[in-house]
Amino acid sequence: MFNLAKSKYFNAANDSQTFLQTCQSGDLNVRMNMEQPSESTRLVNTSDNSVSLFSAKFGESYHSLHGAVTESMIVFIQNGLQPLLAEKEHISIFEMGFGTGLNAVLTHLNSANTTIYYETVEKYPPSTELIRQFAETQWATNTGASRFCLQLHEVDWNQTHNISPHFIFRKLLLDFADYQPPVNRFDLIYFDAFSPEAQQELWTTELFAKLYHSLVPGGVLVTYSSKGIVKNALREAGFKVERLPGPPGKRHVLRATKYLQQD
Ligand SMILES: C[S@@+](CC[C@H](N)C(=O)[O-])C[C@H]1O[C@@H](n2cnc3c(N)ncnc32)[C@H](O)[C@@H]1O
Repeated sequence: MFNLAKSKYFNAANDSQTFLQTCQSGDLNVRMNMEQPSESTRLVNTSDNSVSLFSAKFGESYHSLHGAVTESMIVFIQNGLQPLLAEKEHISIFEMGFGTGLNAVLTHLNSANTTIYYETVEKYPPSTELIRQFAETQWATNTGASRFCLQLHEVDWNQTHNISPHFIFRKLLLDFADYQPPVNRFDLIYFDAFSPEAQQELWTTELFAKLYHSLVPGGVLVTYSSKGIVKNALREAGFKVERLPGPPGKRHVLRATKYLQQD
């Protein structure tokens, strides 16, 4: 455990770099488990100059402190979305853990004219004020990305919204364990829970099997954790699992594919 002054977390990116060097060892747990200096969720800087949130409840940041946007771009956009853009005019995505909306915004920014249906669940939405700070720090006030992010947070839960002609969005205020996904529906799943150490109950064969059935044949689940228990649970749920190079501070990440019937 590290006992750091609260101000440490609020300092500029350089300080978070020093903080990381202080805390990490060996193969890095890039979403840091840290002693909590305050009770509330708050904004944190990351090493690529993008920002994330730190959850006091779970003792982890929402993204890698080595770079929030860098991590999301590699794990979810590069490994998940980009290969599908060449193949499909419509892509149906499910995200476990909507959080800041970063993955949804990056999906929109990187999908050109491909139509995206984006469904997501979230059990603990951050406050409106925190999301405003997040969006306006990440992309600067009143940029298209910042407005898009805020719009995703402002629309009603549990309804379907045409956010743009190419982005159809539905967010569910729900515990993922209670989510009943449609069968054979999604092309791509972003699995973005807190780590298996923090949320062991979400990285299970049973819940991955539910997601397996929700994917179309050949559909893909991507996630940032490459831990053995995650790989095993995905395989037991039926997936073909591959390790891919990870973002800074993380050697590997995972892509899991639902078998085609002839596989
Ligand atoms: C690692 S954060 C990632 C958030 C998001 N993908 C982002 O880019 O900001 C995990 C998210 O899962 C949410 N979460 C945790 N447990 C959940 C549960 N049982 N059901 C639904 N959402 C949950 C958290 O509140 C948090 O927003």
